[in-house]
Amino acid sequence: MDNNYLPRFVRIVGIQTETYDTKSFELEFVESSAKEGFRFRPGQFIEAAVLGVGEAPFGLASNPNHPLTFRITVRAVGSVTEALHQLKIGEWVGIRGPFGNGFPFDEVKGKNILFIGGGIGLPPLRSLIEPMLDARSEFQDIQILYGARTPADLVYKDRLLEWEKMKDLRFMMTVDVGDATWVGEVGVVTTLFPKAEIKEENTVVFVCGPPIMIQFVIQELIHLGFSPGNIISTLERYMKCGIGKCGHCAIGHKYICLDGPVFSYQEMMKLPEKVV
Ligand SMILES: Cc1cc2nc3c(=O)[nH]c(=O)nc-3n(C[C@H](O)[C@H](O)[C@H](O)COP(=O)(O)OP(=O)(O)OC[C@H]3O[C@@H](n4cnc5c(N)ncnc54)[C@H](O)[C@@H]3O)c2cc1C
Ligand code: FES
Repeated sequence: MDNNYLPRFVRIVGIQTETYDTKSFELEFVESSAKEGFRFRPGQFIEAAVLGVGEAPFGLASNPNHPLTFRITVRAVGSVTEALHQLKIGEWVGIRGPFGNGFPFDEVKGKNILFIGGGIGLPPLRSLIEPMLDARSEFQDIQILYGARTPADLVYKDRLLEWEKMKDLRFMMTVDVGDATWVGEVGVVTTLFPKAEIKEENTVVFVCGPPIMIQFVIQELIHLGFSPGNIISTLERYMKCGIGKCGHCAIGHKYICLDGPVFSYQEMMKLPEKVV
């Protein structure tokens, strides 16, 4: 039986600098049997360990239809994330997982899909956006609204340009504060709502970003008539085991690592503490 506490080793096969504090790492299992066996669902996460430093959870940010290599996008904020940023192509990282429940996929076929991402909230959403684009005919309208603090904070800039050009996808982005080169929208992501003509009917919304952004977005969606069950988001808590054993991530009787990190707003409202 697999031991969920034992990391398996992956090699860094690509590094992309996304912003001044964020890098994406393309990872591949060192053992080919592990590579073949690795499957994940959109919205799941892994625990990534830098030997001698520690481990931390990161959302899987790549398309689960192509699992032979996979991506995490990491903002450097402390010891593990800064140690990850020092690593070079060819070096090894320990990983455990995939863990967590993941986003609904089959359950939302036939619906209009609205993604609202803020800053580094786009990576987990991307693990759902890409397989939905692979199965484009199974969904109605797909719309992505993306906001970041400044143009320098936008991640996946090349892919954003491709999304902008796609005919069967509506994509809009904005920044809170522009710079001399920025000719796009300025304002927080909710300022895009009127222009984006978002409609509540038959629509499921996926929201990821900093807690304050999630809070304002959900408030506005509720104001527009969206039902809490059709608003899906993710929760972040300090984690250790990642598998529902240590209790670090518990909110009441729910473990964010096991019952989450994906929750509908309806589920969030039932938690014993205010989470958004
Ligand atoms: C399910 C899940 C998915 C995540 N996905 C991503 C991802 O895709 N990309 C990414 O960059 N980060 C992600 N995070 C956050 C990431 O795990 C933390 O940034 C990381 O644990 C920090 O570790 P560190 O050792 O570098 O920082 P530390 O040295 O432990 O802490 C540095 C600073 O960051 C703060 N901090 C640490 N952990 C958290 C946390 N979980 N929430 C808020 N503040 C924290 C500390 O209070 C401290 O101020 C995710 C977290 C969870 C729970
Ligand atoms: S991280 Fe240990 S129970 Fe969730």
